[in-house]
Amino acid sequence: MYPDERRILLTPGPVVFSIDNLRYMLSTVYEHTSIDFAEIYGRAIKKFRSIIGANGNFPVFMFSGSGTLAMEASLINILKPGSRVLVVSHGFFGDRWAEIARVNGYDVKVLYSDVGDIVDLGFIAEELSKGGYDALLVTHVETSTGVRADVRSLASIASKYNTLIFVDGVSSVAAEPLDCSRWGVDVLVTTSQKALETPPGVSIVALCTSRAVKALEANNGNVRSFYMRLSDWRKVMEAYEDGRIAYHATPPTHLIVALERALTRILEEGLEARFKRHYILAKALREGIRALGLEVVAKREEIASNTVTAVYTPQGVDPIELRRRLARGNIIIALPLHPALRGKSFRIGHMGSVNHNDIVAVVALLERTLASMGVKIELGSGLRAVQQILLTENL
Ligand SMILES: Cc1ncc(COP(=O)(O)O)c(C=O)c1O
Repeated sequence: MYPDERRILLTPGPVVFSIDNLRYMLSTVYEHTSIDFAEIYGRAIKKFRSIIGANGNFPVFMFSGSGTLAMEASLINILKPGSRVLVVSHGFFGDRWAEIARVNGYDVKVLYSDVGDIVDLGFIAEELSKGGYDALLVTHVETSTGVRADVRSLASIASKYNTLIFVDGVSSVAAEPLDCSRWGVDVLVTTSQKALETPPGVSIVALCTSRAVKALEANNGNVRSFYMRLSDWRKVMEAYEDGRIAYHATPPTHLIVALERALTRILEEGLEARFKRHYILAKALREGIRALGLEVVAKREEIASNTVTAVYTPQGVDPIELRRRLARGNIIIALPLHPALRGKSFRIGHMGSVNHNDIVAVVALLERTLASMGVKIELGSGLRAVQQILLTENL
């Protein structure tokens, strides 16, 4: 059975992408050795750089894979064997950085936050000041709890202690402000299926500083992977940017066409307008949720992300049953990922093409559904809070 095309998908990835992107994707079959395709690829790389604030011609890599592959590819290509890394973990995906680093033989130390919180910057600086760390790994938006790290400050701390910073921007790129080169983010990884509004399947690694490029070049001989060897991909990416053809492995041709179109639309909306839209919608959702008497997992407004919100379920409400009932009402939300939140929370994704109607609809269905499950809810209370913010912010 196929899902109802009018359902509202509010998972934190994959997200809804516009019919226009799909139309471009399916307009024809490009072969990866055609100049037409090389030009599309080249444009995608350039547009991506401007979206993340990567200066100049620092290398950007796009190839078949997911966010996890981008994380792993970035580490094994840039960090020499035996490097010491400090992971700042705010949940499930921070832990993933640590696990990927461990299985690749790096010497890993992890600083953990409480659930729904972030690790104190002073604590991180203190650890780095002990010396000996080659890299700091952090998740910009932790999709399992909905908290956002202060990447700008982290980059400045990392640079002070001469440590490379790797940022997982899977749930933030194109939705949260990010200015990689100016902030000093050395390496950024992401993927296509979140705020980039493209189907899953493109791994993206971007180097944004000259010290990251130097580290990549210095580590060239140590990479124990053929597919992920970025020195080979670099030649391909440079060729595409020059409108020439090169080959390392077949790229995801349809997805690159869709991604290039999505990046164009993102730049047409304008980054400031886009960040503001995400900010207002996220705030309206959180206020609506709180007005229903529910608790948001992110402990403070200033660390609550603009792309995903994790929420504690009211006493006695099973998240699986809640999700099932919402799905019957044609709105799809996500179950928890963080081990400490399993069985007692749910997540709503609000990134990409999300709009005010999505937020109104999900809060309306949530209040009706929770009321039908016996939770004491005053119908309309969540909606009133949402409407108030949308009205005030003129969205
Ligand atoms: C913050 C974050 N990092 C990494 C990943 C892993 O990406 P993928 O599932 O595309 O491998 C995800 C997936 O949701 C994520 O949210």
